[in-house]
Amino acid sequence: MTAILSRPAAALLLLALYLLMCAAVWWRHRRRQRQAAAESAALLPAADAGPPVLVLHASQTGQAEEIAWQTARALHLAGMPVRVAALGEVDREALRGARHALFIASTYGEGDAPDSAAPFARDLMAAQASDAATGLDLSSLQVGVLALGDATYTHFCGFGRALDAWLRERGARSMFDRIEADRTDEHALSQWRQRLSHLAGTADLAEWEAPVFTDWRLAARRHLNPGSQGGPVFHLELVPAGGSPLPAWEAGDLVQVSVAGEAAHAAHAAHAAGAADAIDDDARRPREYTIASLPADGRVELMVRRTAREDGSPGLASGWLTERLAVGGDVALRLRPHASFRIGANADRPLILVGNGTGLAGLRAHLKVRAQTRMNTGNGAVRAWLLFGERQSAHDAHYRDEIEAWQRDGVLARVDWAFSRDQAERVHVQHLLAREAPRLREWIADGAAIYVCGSLQGMAGAVDAVLRETLGEADVDALIREGRYRRDVY
Ligand SMILES: Cc1cc2nc3c(=O)[nH]c(=O)nc-3n(C[C@H](O)[C@H](O)[C@H](O)COP(=O)(O)OP(=O)(O)OC[C@H]3O[C@@H](n4cnc5c(N)ncnc54)[C@H](O)[C@@H]3O)c2cc1C
Ligand SMILES: Cc1cc2nc3c(=O)[nH]c(=O)nc-3n(C[C@H](O)[C@H](O)[C@H](O)COP(=O)(O)O)c2cc1C
Repeated sequence: MTAILSRPAAALLLLALYLLMCAAVWWRHRRRQRQAAAESAALLPAADAGPPVLVLHASQTGQAEEIAWQTARALHLAGMPVRVAALGEVDREALRGARHALFIASTYGEGDAPDSAAPFARDLMAAQASDAATGLDLSSLQVGVLALGDATYTHFCGFGRALDAWLRERGARSMFDRIEADRTDEHALSQWRQRLSHLAGTADLAEWEAPVFTDWRLAARRHLNPGSQGGPVFHLELVPAGGSPLPAWEAGDLVQVSVAGEAAHAAHAAHAAGAADAIDDDARRPREYTIASLPADGRVELMVRRTAREDGSPGLASGWLTERLAVGGDVALRLRPHASFRIGANADRPLILVGNGTGLAGLRAHLKVRAQTRMNTGNGAVRAWLLFGERQSAHDAHYRDEIEAWQRDGVLARVDWAFSRDQAERVHVQHLLAREAPRLREWIADGAAIYVCGSLQGMAGAVDAVLRETLGEADVDALIREGRYRRDVY
């Protein structure tokens, strides 16, 4: 450029381009804010319409929240005032003051509340003994509960059931029996819509928008850990098929992959082989994968581990995505906002990123944002600390070059790798975090937020225990309430 333009002119041009880019980012941010405000305003009650129906969601990965918004829109279009909120955002007064409340609650862990509702479960639901004294009387509240769960778990709809029982113990009256949806099955959801019609007093409640899957093309696939003792992990790159524009998403979001086509193919092959038993009863349930890239990369990147079933055969979705699907082939996919794993109000906070295995995907997306911000603004004040666990350093240090470059550039102030099989004793991220307890306290005192991504079993629970041990129960609950402790665990 300086060959054509003088140095000052080139510098001015670069500055102008930079300012233009800042303006575009600001404008996009404002547009999103306006959209969100318009969406909430559209649901605000008319002045004389009476207290709104509370539509409360307890959601980890967004399904319950999505259904809550669909519920609210349908009731609003039927003329009812509604207010949507996360269960964790409401207190005793809000519940006492309401006349009707609908609860859409999923279950996590082993029959537990989703993270955002955990303090509600502990503070309100577990405080039964003190209720007699404080008198939480919900007898003027009419409620309906939709419990989301998965019947393959021992405690099916555990949290939805506990919530329903607690509401009734506090005197709330059920408008209808609790509805339980096994993997968001259509029958249960249509029952829920029927109940909403009754509540709204209309036979023609607006139809819900069905989730829309669109075709994406597998543009590239790379085996990340050849020679590993662990299951093979692949880096996948996907672009919209047919040159469609790339939709927007944020770090922390997920994709859902539809396996219906692949399942039909597998069922056909099983039938042809006379193995009708092998037909998968789980084939309509889409599979979730955390996005490892940003729109600025021009593609959705995923880290997918090929799971092995008990009989050794590959998992339906992961086997297809990592093996049978040819590069250039199409995948039906949809993007899912994952509000509880986005950066939210933590953009300017130090970040402690903890993960294992394919959990690096979500952490990588957040680090990419930090790297981008640093490049665009030169702002290196906010620190990030990565603790990542896998099996062997020789095979499983996924994206090592990128991570080391972020360390050199100051995007990452600190990296701790936990390679469990590199030495005789097993070392995992939770052990490193416990060892670094003073540093953990110091970062939290400095306002850091904690993001945990990867295995629920073996990792997330143990990390949670270390956090509670190091920081104390009350402080960890406060971090959850402030949105400073977020998880994408599975
Ligand atoms: C919020 C969320 C984010 C996810 N992000 C990712 C990601 O980024 N990368 C990724 O590879 N996977 C991710 N997963 C897991 C993914 O959605 C699928 O569950 C996984 O690929 C297995 O699906 P499958 O169809 O291949 O296996 P299936 O045909 O469903 O069979 C899987 C078999 O393995 C077992 N199994 C399934 N999942 C697990 C697990 N996580 N741990 C242990 N055993 C299991 C089951 O019990 C079953 O026997 C995520 C899941 C959730 C809920
Ligand atoms: C890691 C994990 C643990 C889960 N544990 C349970 C459980 O104990 N009981 C249950 O009924 N469902 C369980 N589920 C299923 C979820 O409740 C169900 O998928 C729900 O639709 C998710 O809704 P959400 O996106 O709003 O969080 C679990 C799901 C995951 C990924």
